[in-house]
Amino acid sequence: MSLPGGLRIDVVVPAAGQGRRMGSAVPKQYLRVGGHAILELTLGRLLGLPFVGRVVVALAAGDGRFGDLRCAADPRVVAVTGGAERADSVRAALGEVSTEWVLVHDAARPFVRPGDIEALVEACLGDGGVGGILAVPIHDTVKEGEGGRIARTRPRDGLFRAQTPQMFRAAALREALSGGVAVTDEASALEARGERPLLVMGSELNFKVTTSDDLRLAQALWDAGMLS
Ligand code: CTP
Ligand code: MG
Repeated sequence: MSLPGGLRIDVVVPAAGQGRRMGSAVPKQYLRVGGHAILELTLGRLLGLPFVGRVVVALAAGDGRFGDLRCAADPRVVAVTGGAERADSVRAALGEVSTEWVLVHDAARPFVRPGDIEALVEACLGDGGVGGILAVPIHDTVKEGEGGRIARTRPRDGLFRAQTPQMFRAAALREALSGGVAVTDEASALEARGERPLLVMGSELNFKVTTSDDLRLAQALWDAGMLS
């Protein structure tokens, strides 16, 4: 999909995390699925979209692995040093973004479908608001726990799990992140300023590789040909 007027959108990829919940010596973005580093898979999907301009990757200080990836040599890829929290990494990468809109996508979500990114972009451009995110509805019953017991059940109607990409007007996102807010996604920073980003339906296959179970699931889905 090309965009009207040849519009380009830069992408920020936070990839400076340590992957503590994965518990491996190698940060999870460099673990392999189907023989490919997760970060390589993620960047490959993004670079395959014709409207993508720069892909700005935020790396941990002292990262010695990125240069070995094939996509690191792509002229559209720019590496910057990230920060202590995800929001710090995104803030650093935004400094290299020069387009009006920006997509932010987790390094740890290598299976996002190009069609879902296109749907997000079309919805946000058509809406003309601040932007939006991919999300999936919660199907399980949601419990709030206290001391290992159920304290209460939360109605799940209207609840979603936020995914990435998240797409925003770059100026609005820079402004929203400027105060050093501690947020786990970009939308939260904009919500805190009274904005109401769009919810665009994503896919369960766009899960974030977080634990060793996720890694095993990813490899099994890859082997079954479900992630191509
Ligand atoms: N991230 C980042 N900078 C940080 C922390 C996280 O760029 N200071 C990135 C991660 O590399 C990942 C994405 O943000 O691609 C989502 O974060 P998460 O899944 O929490 O990854 P980690 O922080 O690496 O994992 P964990 O929380 O288990 O340590
Ligand atoms: Mg984290």
